Amino acid sequence: MMMTRRPQLGLLTLTLLCTLFSLAQSLSCEVCKDSGPSCAGKLKLCEPEKDACVTVVGLSTTGNRVSVDTSKSCMKYKDCYSGFISTTLGHGDHMVSNSFCCQEDGCNKGRIPTPEDNSTLNGLRCPSCKAAFQETCSGDQAVQCVGHETQCIYFSGIVQTGIINTRFATRGCATSSACHIQVGARVPSVTYTYELRRADCVPAPRPPGRAERRSAGWVP
Ligand SMILES: *[C@@H]1O[C@H](CO)[C@@H](O)[C@H](O)[C@H]1NC(C)=O
Repeated sequence: MMMTRRPQLGLLTLTLLCTLFSLAQSLSCEVCKDSGPSCAGKLKLCEPEKDACVTVVGLSTTGNRVSVDTSKSCMKYKDCYSGFISTTLGHGDHMVSNSFCCQEDGCNKGRIPTPEDNSTLNGLRCPSCKAAFQETCSGDQAVQCVGHETQCIYFSGIVQTGIINTRFATRGCATSSACHIQVGARVPSVTYTYELRRADCVPAPRPPGRAERRSAGWVP
């Protein structure tokens, strides 16, 4: 009896110790979501695998409407990108965001700057599409890239809206900073969390007319 119970007790103690240890190791972050350039919420203990606090401030333009939203949450540090990202996923569907990642309790309490938008067309184009409930989309319509968007992205996976999880696919223009995002990453945007299964980036092709004119200019 003793011989069989002891190892089990040992295992139980070890499991308990590990659980307590990982709880003690857990990070706490401010968690909130609101419209406007900042938000305020309570400090919450992160799930053990989430070892970073993040703040995302996004400015999105849909048609003529411009809105600013902020979210603060816990995420995996390896999935977290600190900096500016700009995407254009369709005509009149443009978003810029600033993100900040950190790894100390409550370190995302402060404010970060609202991203600066640059909606100047830069002459590049990418295939664009947006689809829900499926993980591919054809991108047969081109979209014009703006600012420093030099990459064509093709992202797909699962979007978690809080209530439901559904498949999504999207293609369009992005800054090269968007290409830091890896397959498998769970990325909180201002409104939803995206779990990426595909994260392709290719440089936007040079517009043919312009390239010809340029190379003609270089001929001595
Ligand atoms: C905005 O984007 C255009 C086109 O790429 C670029 O020429 C310009 O320098 C950018 N402006 C700023 C302030 O970055």
